Amino acid sequence: MTTRTALNQGIELLADAAVPDPRLTAEVLLCHALRRERIFLFSHPEHELNTVEWIHYGRYLHERLQGKPTQYITRTQEWYGRPFRVSPAVLIPRPETEHVVEHALEVARDARTVLDIGTGSGALAVTLALELGARAVATDLSHAALAVARQNATRLGARVDFVQADLAAGLATRFDLIVSNPPYIPAAEIPTLQREVREHEPRLALLGGDEGTEPYRRIIPQAEQLLRPGGWLIFEIGYRGEAAVRAAFEAGLWSEITTGRDLAGWPRVLRGRLTP
Ligand SMILES: C[S@@+](CC[C@H](N)C(=O)[O-])C[C@H]1O[C@@H](n2cnc3c(N)ncnc32)[C@H](O)[C@@H]1O
Repeated sequence: MTTRTALNQGIELLADAAVPDPRLTAEVLLCHALRRERIFLFSHPEHELNTVEWIHYGRYLHERLQGKPTQYITRTQEWYGRPFRVSPAVLIPRPETEHVVEHALEVARDARTVLDIGTGSGALAVTLALELGARAVATDLSHAALAVARQNATRLGARVDFVQADLAAGLATRFDLIVSNPPYIPAAEIPTLQREVREHEPRLALLGGDEGTEPYRRIIPQAEQLLRPGGWLIFEIGYRGEAAVRAAFEAGLWSEITTGRDLAGWPRVLRGRLTP
């Protein structure tokens, strides 16, 4: 079996099962099985797969056909230009969340200390530590997620301390910047999620209580204690969360409350400044 034949058969299998982006998915899975870069597929179409490569490729295709996200098979996701390790213990970091980094770089370039609440793979904490040259603290309730995030910080050379905590409970230091992409799916919407998300991504990373806004309502008062005056709190929000999260900001000690939209035009980031 050559690379070309393996690729074509994989594309056909995935397309027949209505898996999105069958060509790209087959290419990524075949590269992972071969432990090669994508260019190899096109420069060596006549490469004969050995038994191990063939078995791995077959297994990856089977897992993808069963609904497992490609990133949990390859164990990696590129995010803000860096490769992050992922496992089923963490949410696969999404491109929309990169807007949180953009907002942080816009308003808090001088931040020397950053807190990331609900860090998952560590994408936000690691990226902000590296982009700002800052020291970061990152929390998560999940011990398994913290292990993945710690590995990412070490591999990418970021200065991040990881703490197992319920949101920011128990922290006492003051920060210049707090970011969070907390779970924000309302309970009733969980059954309507895409199968890949519903069955494979951690429920703890998705469920935001009955309304999808519970974590925000808890984080905002915690942040009032943990930010230095004039510091910023920057959230990712769900597409229906803007009014409730904005109201929670307005009920507190916040000014310069601003909504940012994603590339599709949905409200995606909400930030506020702790009134100096
Ligand atoms: C939506 S995911 C975001 C992960 C990561 N920050 C990202 O943007 O890709 C939310 C994260 O919050 C964590 N989490 C959920 N409830 C929590 C709680 N009460 N305290 C701390 N972390 C929590 C989950 O384990 C998950 O890693």
